[in-house]
Amino acid sequence: MASLLFEKNSKEQKELITMFSIRRTDLEDSQAVCRIVRKSIIETCVKDHKQDEVVQEEWLKNKTPDNFKNWISAKDNLSLVAVDDTDKPIGFILAKLAMPKAELLLNYIASNHTGRGVGYGLYNELEQALMRRGIDEIITHSTQTAREFYSRMGFSLIGWAADPSGWQAEIPMKKGLTYK
Ligand SMILES: CC(C)(COP(=O)(O)OP(=O)(O)OC[C@H]1O[C@@H](n2cnc3c(N)ncnc32)[C@H](O)[C@@H]1OP(=O)(O)O)[C@@H](O)C(=O)NCCC(=O)NCCS
Repeated sequence: MASLLFEKNSKEQKELITMFSIRRTDLEDSQAVCRIVRKSIIETCVKDHKQDEVVQEEWLKNKTPDNFKNWISAKDNLSLVAVDDTDKPIGFILAKLAMPKAELLLNYIASNHTGRGVGYGLYNELEQALMRRGIDEIITHSTQTAREFYSRMGFSLIGWAADPSGWQAEIPMKKGLTYK
């Protein structure tokens, strides 16, 4: 896959520029990606776990390097990493392919790189890769934290009736992929 270089180009955000490229995830990325996801859950997903340690533990318990190895290497999964100019991962996205649909399972940006276009870049690249495989719909169960992000990416709610005060209330969302 071609390596793409992204930057936010509005003048006001010059100091917030994050340069990154996107590539397929390697097994060697497992440790780094696992660290990003665990740190992001603790530091960025506060709206969801509300600093409750029991809730955090439950969420983190399957986020182990070995599980990341399995998820990255699973044949019906597709994952990408955003990397900085030293090839260090700063974001990770993973979808399960179930033709003709896909489910976005993990989407985490390193907490010190959020709000700088990395999530947009990763999602957009994943979407293009899914479309090349003939996928026509993508679904996800969003965190509270990412709900607005997914709305910006064109997702809409699908019959969400969960108690918004409940921890980790997942928000089902979907997006149809249209071919031009
Ligand atoms: C959600 C997440 C992936 C977004 O990545 P990001 O790099 O911060 O997002 P970007 O900077 O690319 O933003 C893309 C767009 O979404 C908007 N956006 C992103 N997060 C937002 C938020 N929390 N609230 C409102 N808008 C948000 C941005 O303003 C931007 O909109 P614009 O293009 O109109 O300016 C990232 O913040 C994250 O890792 N969150 C914690 C993990 C999580 O909840 N993951 C999803 C569950 S699997």
